[in-house]
Amino acid sequence: MAVEVIHEGATILLRLSNGPVNALSVGNGFVGDIMAKVRLAVSDPACRTIVVTGAGRMFCGGADISDFDGDPAQIGLLRDLIAAVEDSGKPVIMAIHGMALGGGLELAMAGHVRIAQAGSRLGLPEVTLGLLPGAGGTQRLARLIGAGAALDMMLSGKPVTAERALSLGLVDQLVDGDVVEAALEVARNAPPLRRTGALPVPADLGEAIEGRRAKLRGGLSQAPTRIIDCVAALSDDLAAGLALEAELFGELMRSEASRGLRHAFFGERTVARIPGLSGDVRPREVRHVGVIGGGLMGTGITLALLNAGVPVTMVELRADALAKAEASIRKTIQRDVEKGRIDQAVADARIAAFTPATELDALSDADLVIEAVFEDMGVKKQVFSALDAITRPDAILASNTSTLDLDAIAALVADPSRVVGLHFFSPANIMRLLEVVRGRETAPDVLATAMAFGKRVGKVSVVSGVCDGFIGNRMFEEYLRQVWFMLEEGALPQQIDAAMERWGMAMGPCRTMDLAGQDIGWAIRKRRAVEQPDRPYSGVIDRICELSRFGQKTGKGIYVYPDGRTAEPDPEITKLIEDYSAEIGLTRRAISDEEIVSRCLLALINEGARIVGDGIAYRPVDVDMIYLHGYGFGRERGGPMFQADLMGLPAMLDRLRTLAAGRNGWAWTPAPLIEQLAAKGGRFEDLNIQG
Ligand code: 3HC
Repeated sequence: MAVEVIHEGATILLRLSNGPVNALSVGNGFVGDIMAKVRLAVSDPACRTIVVTGAGRMFCGGADISDFDGDPAQIGLLRDLIAAVEDSGKPVIMAIHGMALGGGLELAMAGHVRIAQAGSRLGLPEVTLGLLPGAGGTQRLARLIGAGAALDMMLSGKPVTAERALSLGLVDQLVDGDVVEAALEVARNAPPLRRTGALPVPADLGEAIEGRRAKLRGGLSQAPTRIIDCVAALSDDLAAGLALEAELFGELMRSEASRGLRHAFFGERTVARIPGLSGDVRPREVRHVGVIGGGLMGTGITLALLNAGVPVTMVELRADALAKAEASIRKTIQRDVEKGRIDQAVADARIAAFTPATELDALSDADLVIEAVFEDMGVKKQVFSALDAITRPDAILASNTSTLDLDAIAALVADPSRVVGLHFFSPANIMRLLEVVRGRETAPDVLATAMAFGKRVGKVSVVSGVCDGFIGNRMFEEYLRQVWFMLEEGALPQQIDAAMERWGMAMGPCRTMDLAGQDIGWAIRKRRAVEQPDRPYSGVIDRICELSRFGQKTGKGIYVYPDGRTAEPDPEITKLIEDYSAEIGLTRRAISDEEIVSRCLLALINEGARIVGDGIAYRPVDVDMIYLHGYGFGRERGGPMFQADLMGLPAMLDRLRTLAAGRNGWAWTPAPLIEQLAAKGGRFEDLNIQG
């Protein structure tokens, strides 16, 4: 952390340097240091102009997000710095390269001239953290570029290119070469003190506000509404606008939505770190990738890889299935062209990177092979035995299994240290989650390679140990167990789904299972009936499966799908559920939405805590990221374990104990980790620091 001061004639160049993104951290004293150096420059009689730039790969990635967990008053120092820059009697020229985001752009807007390097990007992404630009951004951006354009930037959170920033008036000059040299050149000519905060209120204010308010959608985060409120408050009185902005920023900072979104931001980065992995471990190089299996999963994985620029050889032993997979891949890539997502040249390159094959020999030189064949140990055995003979001894062999024991699969090859699980979620080209399954023997560099590969193909990769269902599906079973119990006790599917969707799940559990295929859950329940007879499920869902109503793919499941896609409640199912309750002698009762949400959530948390306690997940946040990226858990809700901390573990334990004393109470035995943490006043968050 340093602010370098360089004297260039009558100009003082301040180079900001604070970690990878030059975050404007108040907590570590960085903002204080910048303030001190700005004051020195302003009071230095030999200094006529000031240039501010960032060291490393960007100007500045914004305020330090970890500051927001501390004292809200801290941010005041950043606001003071920004005011000091704008009010400076000497011109301050901002030399922007890489990125200027959030507080970084707010600092830049306080400068009197902004020069950006071509290719850099500028934005106010605070909304993605459930915040508003809280260091003058809502008051200055609209003055510079107009209210409509400013609202679009702030409400989307998407950065604009330097070229667009120039056309909007956000920057004054664009340079191809050295941006600092260009800024020093401008400084030598002592530009006028054009103060952004003194610019008039934009003429499009009223119209822009009305239009954006009309488009507001509900949601847990109040940030969009508050951003509009701040812009609507724009007046000649800058101080009043800034005061409102500061007040609303503080409100948002403390909100559940912002806390959840900040947890997600750091969580996505934390899960990439493998605790205990030595810094000397280097990922292996992955150039040639093979995917075995041309079914739904193999096709999705292949698409995900091709879209990330990874060449793939797909092996499917049946020529007709291979042709079908290839046609589907070509069609999906071409659809991206039709939708304007990519141009034809990119599509052609992706298709050219695809090699279909019907023989496993085609994988003899692969660095990584991902098996996505039928979920049957006999089939896996054939594949892995063949791969053991065909592939290079240093090639990594990955299984996409979601239900089988990875250690048993690894035992099929001579060197089990080269086997790892890569559990993609369907559709693999869309879903961002990748569970990287660490087998008992998986070599550290194989695990590191799997994580690096996941990142390369744009996935949020989370390590899971070996257990039935790994992290995500093991928890989902407990969630569904409660859903089916609630059906027999008195709830209807549409009520459960609506309650969960209103709360923040992308899709309710009944619709989810109709989409995934009720037959899959049925097969698991049959297996469980043998393995765990003491942990029964409600039979109500089996009754539905016995009618061969497997969900969307059969046109009927818990719901009916008259147009093939839209779920509609079915009176026949309502009757079936009510009859089932009567048959088992249960008087149906009204189940509140609150109870639905609470039971679903507690089931996830309790099993999540077992998974962390068993060492299957490294940290609670790993569980959270799996739920956010693989199960449609609302990002603003942070994840199940984050929710547990919000609830408070002692309160949660009380609730679990109450449930454990009730009907099917065996399902609610509190996880030992919850008991331990609650006893010592701990939180799951305390366990997230490892790694
Ligand atoms: N605060 C604190 N830490 C930050 C940070 C920030 N604003 N931005 C990035 N980091 C950290 C990351 O956590 C990561 O830490 P790690 O190495 O320990 O995991 C490290 O910096 C590198 O970040 P990335 O891995 O994300 O690096 P990339 O090169 O992939 O991306 C980036 C760079 C585009 C700047 C991306 O980090 C990003 O989007 N950062 C957040 C930008 C943002 O939201 N800024 C607004 C902050 S809120 C604000 O400014 C409020 C103000 O209005 C008052």
